[in-house]
Amino acid sequence: MQQPLLSMEGISKSFNGIKVLDSVNFSLHKGEVHALMGGNGAGKSTLMKILTGVYTADEGEIFIEGKKVSINNTEDAKRNYISMIFQEFSLVPTLTVAQNIFLTREPKNSIGFLNEKLCNEKTKELLKELEVDVEPTDVIANLGVGYWQMTEIAKALSQNTKILIMDEPTSSLTKKETEVLFDIIHKLKEKGISIIYISHRMDEIFQICDRITVLRDGKKITTENCDEISMETVIQHIVGADLDKAFEWKERVYSTEGTPVLEVKNLASGTKVKNISFRLYPGEILGVAGLMGSGRSEMVRAIFGIDPIDGGEIFVKGKKCTIKDPVDAINVGIALIPEDRRMQGLILQHSVKENIILPILSKIKRGIFLDNRKANDIAETFVKTLNIKTDDIFKTVRLLSGGNQQKIVLAKWLANNPDILVLDEPTIGVDIGAKTEIMDIIRKLADSGKAVLVISSELQELLAVSDRIIVVHGGEVVKELKRKEIHSEEVLQHAIQGH
Ligand SMILES: Nc1ncnc2c1ncn2[C@@H]1O[C@H](COP(=O)(O)OP(=O)(O)OP(=O)(O)O)[C@@H](O)[C@H]1O
Ligand SMILES: [Mg+2]
Repeated sequence: MQQPLLSMEGISKSFNGIKVLDSVNFSLHKGEVHALMGGNGAGKSTLMKILTGVYTADEGEIFIEGKKVSINNTEDAKRNYISMIFQEFSLVPTLTVAQNIFLTREPKNSIGFLNEKLCNEKTKELLKELEVDVEPTDVIANLGVGYWQMTEIAKALSQNTKILIMDEPTSSLTKKETEVLFDIIHKLKEKGISIIYISHRMDEIFQICDRITVLRDGKKITTENCDEISMETVIQHIVGADLDKAFEWKERVYSTEGTPVLEVKNLASGTKVKNISFRLYPGEILGVAGLMGSGRSEMVRAIFGIDPIDGGEIFVKGKKCTIKDPVDAINVGIALIPEDRRMQGLILQHSVKENIILPILSKIKRGIFLDNRKANDIAETFVKTLNIKTDDIFKTVRLLSGGNQQKIVLAKWLANNPDILVLDEPTIGVDIGAKTEIMDIIRKLADSGKAVLVISSELQELLAVSDRIIVVHGGEVVKELKRKEIHSEEVLQHAIQGH
């Protein structure tokens, strides 16, 4: 067999005496797209941070084209033509695309000044190569997240990258942006660039990857060719058990006879929400489907008082209410778990426990003091039910893996015990095992009488939990379907596309 471009051998790493990588082997061929998969906290990001010199391995060796290299810092990684696009982007929003690409190494003119013109010209070439319709002089902050990603990729190309690592690149992209990204990945492949691709989305992996490596609890479980392994087997390796009921729908019983717990009538807000009406009953899970930009997220932002309401009415338990800001919404019993949780939901330098109990501090006081025992109990319970991977409840949230941070935001809102729970893309970034756990939790909450509104772009997920689904298009509810009447994913797909 041909010698791999990259080979990592026997990589181990511990943090505070806890082994998060245990003798891991990983290899990458020229022009290959290699998926790195595993549950939240399995060690994917850590392995890649070792490859890029962010962390140093305790044991193990790295070879490039058969030659042993030592990568102790990000400069070493660059010298070996390795680049990584992190889960959190590293661009400066106030600078232009070109300035970001050439940041810290701008082409200088003869007397040492930054040569803006040259930067722009070179950037134009790169963008043309990627066929991205962005101008070098566009300011990053004014561009959608999809373009941030393209800028990161262009930046990597400008550094003559041979190995490009993408850590959950599509979690904040629209479907269309994702397709553009996949086209670019194909082009990079053709140029002989190798890609390590981290994602929790099974369908993507089988669409674009050549090989797949699964990590579980810091150990390598397997490496296989994508066309020689089934999705079921991959899931089994990731979870470490059979999970054949991952997306199974269970019919639930609840009543639509009484007063709806939430009723929205002719809601209008901004340019995206034009005329939204629906009812949500106690014990019901109402799914919201629609394309990106259909006004789904804006609709819940208005209901939760983040964006101003321009028209229409909101009734909670039959009583008309005025929601001017999120405090009003929380007071009438609504909780919103927003889409960009990492930005909005957490205090990263605080502990798991502090983050979970933050919204309920006033409820767990004994006199003027915090009832620490109760606080610990609540935090422990959520860590257990959501299967949050952390050494203990006192660990700083910043040190948790991406998916486990997401679960903490969820815990935080659940702890507050709201009557109406609004979840915007509840399973972005969480692994397949946790996805099913979260869906189970949603069902349990509804069984206990809570009303749940779920927005999701993953149809499988929406079909698994919803009792009823409304389809939003152009800021209006265009269709309402009982889950029982939806016999396949295609039916819903057609409804969403307006056929
Ligand atoms: N600097 C650190 N200090 C202590 N523990 C850490 C540190 N970085 C990572 N860990 C721990 O190492 C384990 C692996 O984390 P890692 O971020 O590699 O997971 P991951 O596979 O990328 O997960 P996800 O899919 O959730 O992003 C986790 O348990 C995490 O808490
Ligand atoms: Mg990660």
